[in-house]
Amino acid sequence: MKILVTGGAGFIGSNFIRYWTNKYPDDKIVNLDALTYAGNLENLKDIENNKNYEFIKGDIRDADLVNDLVKDVDLIIHFAAESHVDRSIQNSEDFIKTNVLGTRVLLDAAKNNGNIRFHHISTDEVFGALGLDDEPFNEDTPYDPRSPYSASKAASDHLARAYFHTHKLPITISNCTNNYGPFQFPEKLIPLFITNLIEGEKVPVYGKGENIRDWIYVDDHNAGVDAIIKKGRIGETYCLGGENEITNLEITKKILNLMGMGEEMIEYVKDRPGHDFRYAMDITKAKNELGWRPKIKFEEGLKKTVEWYKNNKDWWRGIKSGSYLEYYKKQYGRN
Ligand code: NAD
Ligand code: TYD
Repeated sequence: MKILVTGGAGFIGSNFIRYWTNKYPDDKIVNLDALTYAGNLENLKDIENNKNYEFIKGDIRDADLVNDLVKDVDLIIHFAAESHVDRSIQNSEDFIKTNVLGTRVLLDAAKNNGNIRFHHISTDEVFGALGLDDEPFNEDTPYDPRSPYSASKAASDHLARAYFHTHKLPITISNCTNNYGPFQFPEKLIPLFITNLIEGEKVPVYGKGENIRDWIYVDDHNAGVDAIIKKGRIGETYCLGGENEITNLEITKKILNLMGMGEEMIEYVKDRPGHDFRYAMDITKAKNELGWRPKIKFEEGLKKTVEWYKNNKDWWRGIKSGSYLEYYKKQYGRN
């Protein structure tokens, strides 16, 4: 099988390519990635010489390139996106361009080249925000995106579904909760906090740290995508999650504990505008239909992640001293 993976130089995409090449070494993978600030070929150093792997630097909005690339492909797995909520609050333009228009280009290419099987990677954030007593999201929860990021992902989900209904394009969609693990760009909560602490810097907790997310180790997410590719029903959506709801403050304390540091390293900063209070996912459908479930306990995954960032300082120090600094200063008002 030949697979086009988009966004494979990012966090989840690079972990996916590693997962897939280990499990299915005979499959061919083409990784199309524009190498934005979030894309990094260092993430795939161990794969780059694999004879069944090819990297193409390019934009998913480049219709000629995409049409060319999909010609002999059996499956498209679409990870590429602008993925950070805070950046979408600063400026949403690239989110609409890549997440909405880019997805449209890929769907058209799949449709115009023999209705290629298409898996669309999405997020729990399209469903909106939950209160403490609300039932977790599931596949029937109405869409209610509240940030420019989640609105752009919701639009792309709707487009994928529209191509299924209108053009019979064989799509599936996964909506997953917050991922963590190696190679996550250090703007997201867990890698930002770990790397700040390694540098002796405080960690910026938004508001009172009471917001709740459901965290899943990246390999568990990718195993879920694998199960959907192999067993999922065409046209269906599958909700994936870690069954691991936890407040930001609790995570912060766990990270501090793993790193032998105290709560004096916490800095409570201004809250995110429109900060969604809680995300949680009911993953019954994926469990029943796919036989999939998350396997890695949060304590174990978090420990592995802390160790990875401690052992790979060169990877993130380069990132943290580059263009990222401008974003960071703007976000946290720091020098
Ligand atoms: P990431 O920001 O780490 O990586 C995104 C990748 O897409 C980068 O390599 C970037 O260069 C590439 N890219 C961006 N715009 C592009 C374009 N126009 N053309 C080609 N490549 C482009 O993101 P991630 O955290 O790995 O997320 C991957 C996918 O998973 C996204 O679709 C995201 O919405 C979804 N998702 C993420 C999470 C999470 O917790 N990180 C949770 C659920 C779903
Ligand atoms: P993030 O990793 O940006 O993921 P998302 O917004 O997609 O859930 O943020 C996770 C949670 O952590 C979210 O509630 C916002 C909070 N947060 C902080 O408190 N401080 C930070 O510096 C960041 C980046 C996030």
